[in-house]
Amino acid sequence: MLSNISIISGKSSENLARKLSKKIKANLVRSEIRVFADGESKITLNGKLSKKKSVVVQSIYPPVDTNLIQALSLISKAREVSSQVIAVIPYMGYARQDREFLPGEIVTMKVIGKLFKGAGASEVIAVDIHSLIGFKYFTIKTKNLTAIPDLVQYFKKLSLKNPLIVSPDQGGKKRAQEFAQEFGSEYIALEKKRDRKTGKVKIQTKNVNVLGRDLILVDDMISTGGSIVKATQFLKKQKCNRVYVACTHALLMNDARNKIMKAGVTKIVSANTIPGKTSIVDVSNTIAKAII
Ligand code: R5P
Repeated sequence: MLSNISIISGKSSENLARKLSKKIKANLVRSEIRVFADGESKITLNGKLSKKKSVVVQSIYPPVDTNLIQALSLISKAREVSSQVIAVIPYMGYARQDREFLPGEIVTMKVIGKLFKGAGASEVIAVDIHSLIGFKYFTIKTKNLTAIPDLVQYFKKLSLKNPLIVSPDQGGKKRAQEFAQEFGSEYIALEKKRDRKTGKVKIQTKNVNVLGRDLILVDDMISTGGSIVKATQFLKKQKCNRVYVACTHALLMNDARNKIMKAGVTKIVSANTIPGKTSIVDVSNTIAKAII
């Protein structure tokens, strides 16, 4: 028997939406998208929506603004029929713009909060949002799930030598701690500095004792790969054994994957919040538990 929930599959999260609909035995409503030459999206929904509850699944990775407007349009359409609309945004784009780092910078997460409410979402669910500060600007219900237990399950199957969990920066210390606790190992956090104007990163930590150990670098996301490359180069200099990367959102822009592999990383493992070659860890179960 199908549940009384419609899963609306956005174009950016088709596989995840399909998996989710199977897990909770919900009706899957696919969206057909035509992007015109000028960049506008024309969206058609194929199927009937539940009057009770619709769940829109759409990650906001590049093209970020296109995927955002598609998510908002799907939410708006769902609201015309369903009394409850949950927006599942596995990768919440714009979440790094949650503070005025330099004078005059616009905190885009404030705008995003207004847009989701205005479109008609009753609740927004993200997976490992960059920081919870972003959700503070939302006036509707929000939930942040974590892919860490799913990622840990993958790493538990590997035979690693004296493993150590490493965060490339102090901002990710809590994440590394959570991963280490779940995995059953120690963790450390490096000191990373990012130039706010150029975006370039450098590792400021001087020495760490990682001699001969297998390391798992844990981060919420990889964009240009700069943070992971710098951390790996530093850790390799400190004579560690293998370096694995575990991250939730692998944006891997341009040649980031090559740069990371060239720096000496053995494997990048990410969640399917963003589809791609490294996205081998499925989070549909984690999302399913949050929406029923
Ligand atoms: C930063 O605080 C984040 O947790 C990531 O480390 C960062 O966004 C990754 O970006 P990139 O791959 O461009 O260094």
